[in-house]
Amino acid sequence: MPSVYIKTYGCQMNERDSEAVAAQLVSKGYSLARTEAVADVILLNTCSVRDMAEQKAINKMENLAGQIRKKRPEVVLGFMGCMAQSRGQQLIDQLPDVDLVLGTQKFHRAADYLDEILSGKRERIVDVAEEKGSEATVRDHILRGNTADKAVTAFVSIMQGCNQYCTFCIVPYTRGAERSRTIPDILAECRELVSRGVKEITLLGQIVTSYGKRFSAEELQDWLGGFLPAVSVDDTEGANGIMHPASMSHSNKPSGLVVGQASSLSAGLPARGLDSGAGCPDGRQDARPTIQRKSAFVQLLEAVHEIDGLERIRFTSPHPKGYGDDLVDAYARLPKLVESAHLPLQSGSDRLLKLMHRGYTRERFSRIIGNLRRARPNIGITTDIIVGFPGETNADFEETLSLAREIQFDNAYVFKYSQRKDTPAASMPNQIPAALIEERHSRLLTLINEIAAEKYERFVGQRVQILVEGESKKNSARMTGRTRCNKIVLFEGNDRHRGQLMELKIQHTGSFTLYGDPAILGLD
Ligand code: 5AD
Repeated sequence: MPSVYIKTYGCQMNERDSEAVAAQLVSKGYSLARTEAVADVILLNTCSVRDMAEQKAINKMENLAGQIRKKRPEVVLGFMGCMAQSRGQQLIDQLPDVDLVLGTQKFHRAADYLDEILSGKRERIVDVAEEKGSEATVRDHILRGNTADKAVTAFVSIMQGCNQYCTFCIVPYTRGAERSRTIPDILAECRELVSRGVKEITLLGQIVTSYGKRFSAEELQDWLGGFLPAVSVDDTEGANGIMHPASMSHSNKPSGLVVGQASSLSAGLPARGLDSGAGCPDGRQDARPTIQRKSAFVQLLEAVHEIDGLERIRFTSPHPKGYGDDLVDAYARLPKLVESAHLPLQSGSDRLLKLMHRGYTRERFSRIIGNLRRARPNIGITTDIIVGFPGETNADFEETLSLAREIQFDNAYVFKYSQRKDTPAASMPNQIPAALIEERHSRLLTLINEIAAEKYERFVGQRVQILVEGESKKNSARMTGRTRCNKIVLFEGNDRHRGQLMELKIQHTGSFTLYGDPAILGLD
């Protein structure tokens, strides 16, 4: 059987998609090649979020065509993922060596299409169509059986797509509209992972806080019966999907459902018949079904939390708007939900936030961070910030600097604005010259790094809990793990520590890394 090599660009969702394609191909008999030089099939899983990511993948494919394909003409070359979706056939027109272009709703077809190409049935295949139900197809994992590098952590895709349409962002065009997997489907995958030794699960989606917006409250109640006390269902969505406060009292109907045991997690909350939505921080109501004032996403977190043997839950990426009282409260209530949050800020200027179509102000953003820090004082908070959005003035940029100073992020990804095809911002006036973007990027990065270094320094002498993930890639004498607040920690250990929750004392820090020592606690 052929061997395959998959190279991934971009985010964790892309990493997850690559893993699912690899697992699919392995289940059909493919082997995973160690390098592209020996692979029979080379797939590039692409990112479109900035131009540079696209150029990297295109250059890579040109190199593969020029070098590997020349020596081994039978090698199959393919693009998949976001750039495959947004450029489609155009990629083959530009790079005729490409045999396969697989869009973001078609990962599950990889094996079939490769079969057709390898058997000579078809020469080239481009499939970037939408596919109903495709959100539930990213489910296979490579957990490496019982081998030494058996997986301790896993990503689970809970939804696909995005309806936010931030004006700078290409994702709604590459990933399509929001589509959520059902709670039972996700739970089955999580349970299976835990039964195979996984201790930490990261729930993934383009906007995880929008999870399940389209589910009805009855559906939620049906799936979660075993987790909820017997209360009435509040289907607060109107026929058009928008919740109308005036109509809410009419939809306040008793459920009539016989529900099983009240969960210890939801017990203690008042049984209410009338919900006012998922408690937006500013008191506005949110258009989504809720049960007991909890959004579908929080219901999902609670259900995953019940899985025995699972130690930690993370999720990414959320939208700040999704941090209603229910989610903040989940941090306070659910011990497996680690104290870590990645809240993309994008800008500290209200004027730009509006132009970006972000749906919050700097004041509201700060308030959410305050709420989270009150719920979990040691929470690690990271963010994404874009510099050089069209029309960004010095004053706007100063607002971003001042908010970064005020919030004191543990780390931030600082991005240079990149014009993306079909996005409203690409045709906005006052595009910022590259040199100015560079300058702002470097100023903000310096500030972020200063704050982060100081925050990391504060860990020295502290005890932290880590989940040991495996050997350090750079030094095999060291093991690597993460704190609950998502800091990487290295320590001298060996394979028997893998998968363990350990207490370490931090000795010193490196760049975005902590170095710990279990010996001091006598736990080695
Ligand atoms: N230019 C620069 N950065 C972008 N991002 C999204 N679109 C763009 C763009 N056009 C950044 C945002 C987002 C992260 C994943 O990528 O900060 O949160």
